[in-house]
Amino acid sequence: MGCHRMVAVSRPEIARLRGYWERKQPIRWARIVKEPDYVFFNHFPHINKGIRCQECHGPVETMAQVKLDHTLSMNVCVGCHRQKGASVDCYTCHR
Ligand code: HEC
Ligand code: HEC
Ligand code: HEC
Repeated sequence: MGCHRMVAVSRPEIARLRGYWERKQPIRWARIVKEPDYVFFNHFPHINKGIRCQECHGPVETMAQVKLDHTLSMNVCVGCHRQKGASVDCYTCHR
């Protein structure tokens, strides 16, 4: 809300977000992308390497409502890790 008290305040979805905040209620997110509990994933190292959101989430900027573009299966994760020289140790993603 540090940002959305000032930015895009009149947009309906932001008003909805503010409603939860004002009522001090947790937001009932509908999860779309969700790995199993035994998978460790963290956005930071990816964003830090300049990987675009769309590489994993598809063309979200064209979606009125986010849907699953493709499943982020182990093959996809490991495929990119191989290609970019990132770790493919089991322990990297399963700990
Ligand atoms: C390397 C692949 C990758 C990149 C790049 C990436 N994400 Fe993700 N994102 C994931 C995965 C995997 C999950 C699910 C994580 C989990 O289940 O713990 C996720 C989850 C999310 C979620 C929660 C989804 C939901 O259904 O609730 C949001 C929001 C999100 N990402 C936004 C972004 C944004 C914004 C960017 C770019 C700044 C980005 N992601 C870049 C892989 C990626
Ligand atoms: C589009 C390419 C790409 C995809 C897809 C991708 N990764 Fe990565 N990932 C990277 C790169 C590149 C790094 C290395 C970042 C660095 O060296 O700092 C990385 C780093 C990581 C790290 C940190 C490794 C460490 O040594 O600390 C984890 C954990 C991770 N990825 C998990 C996943 C999981 C789980 C998925 C699938 C859901 C996934 N990644 C999909 C490119 C990708
Ligand atoms: C870069 C991330 C990454 C690495 C490295 C990785 N995994 Fe995975 N693994 C995943 C993700 C994401 C899933 C869940 C999605 C899926 O089932 O494809 C998964 C799922 C699994 C599953 C469950 C499959 C099933 O059908 O239920 C097993 C078993 C597994 N991994 C074993 C391993 C072993 C063994 C290694 C090392 C040789 C390894 N993984 C390395 C990301 C990774």
